[in-house]
Amino acid sequence: MQVDGSRILVTGGAGFIGSHLVGALLHRGATEVLVIDDLSTGLLENLTPLPEERVSVYSMDIRDVTSRELRNVDGVVHLAADVSVGASMKDPWATFDANVRGTLAVLETAADAGVGSLAFASSAAVYGDTPPPLSEDSPLRPLSPYGASKLAAESLVRMFANERGLMGISLRLFNVYGPRQRADSEYAAVVPAFVSAGLAGEPMKVHGDGTQTRELVYVGDVCDAFVTALERAGHYPGRAFNIAPGAPVTVNDLAEAVNNALDAPVGVEHDPPRPGDIHESSADVRAAREALGFVPRTTLEGGLRATIEAEKEKVYIAGTTIE
Ligand SMILES: NC(=O)c1ccc[n+]([C@@H]2O[C@H](COP(=O)([O-])OP(=O)(O)OC[C@H]3O[C@@H](n4cnc5c(N)ncnc54)[C@H](O)[C@@H]3O)[C@@H](O)[C@H]2O)c1
Repeated sequence: MQVDGSRILVTGGAGFIGSHLVGALLHRGATEVLVIDDLSTGLLENLTPLPEERVSVYSMDIRDVTSRELRNVDGVVHLAADVSVGASMKDPWATFDANVRGTLAVLETAADAGVGSLAFASSAAVYGDTPPPLSEDSPLRPLSPYGASKLAAESLVRMFANERGLMGISLRLFNVYGPRQRADSEYAAVVPAFVSAGLAGEPMKVHGDGTQTRELVYVGDVCDAFVTALERAGHYPGRAFNIAPGAPVTVNDLAEAVNNALDAPVGVEHDPPRPGDIHESSADVRAAREALGFVPRTTLEGGLRATIEAEKEKVYIAGTTIE
């Protein structure tokens, strides 16, 4: 399918990645983007800069999706999920219900509606502590219910591609960062945690000695990958691809890069290591490069600068959603 001239449904479209993606799809010529989001972590204000006549929001749970929302939809990007690893440890049932039953509801409704193409947001968490570099052929050994739920959802995507003709592929996202990523959670990812500390003039908290590595991919590059995934899903039905720069950075180097991008550097404070934290993350991205032409364009310095500039302008009302 071609995104240009199409109608696309984005689940989780009011969230961090989703709201950027809705903008990217419109920019690439989608005539209309429909959003399903229960606003549990997403915010409607993330979508307000976009042209309202081309964006429609269904404020609902993906588990309640019906043929009504999928009518005349050409492609689906499925992002809605319980995204917290920590919360999944405390309540694995809730995570599985949202992420596996929720994905099944989306796939079944999309297959019944004859949707042409689907891209699913999976995660590097499917690999768990498998030794890097991680390629799509590496063993899949998730360490959390969150990672296991993403793996189960990937196999549903594959099953629907094989058995129901729904052309779907999974993108295994590594650490995505960029503007609008929330730092107001106890599970905030490393970049928003550093950026919000930095902007508040507080030291950045590094867990452990900071030699652990992360694969940090800018949200704009992830949006490009989703657009291409929709357009090429028909060639790779059921496949999964790593989406990362393929260039790990240490948390210490990241802290230094954030410090360099701030007007006033804040320094670093070391906390004890967090139990269960992966020490080394490193992705082999050759498959995505070959199949999807995926080459991230954003440098870490450029991405951090864009993130910090955007965060300076933003006013979040912590813990609230807007209906
Ligand atoms: N941010 C990352 O680094 C990263 C890495 C790997 C995978 N992912 C995956 O990418 C996707 C998007 O993540 P994000 O970082 O933008 O998180 P996010 O929390 O900002 O986005 C998730 C969105 O889904 C919505 N949502 C959650 N449960 C829902 C439900 N049951 N029904 C309807 N809407 C629901 C939320 O309100 C939110 O808007 C998720 O599937 C996540 O697992 C993200």
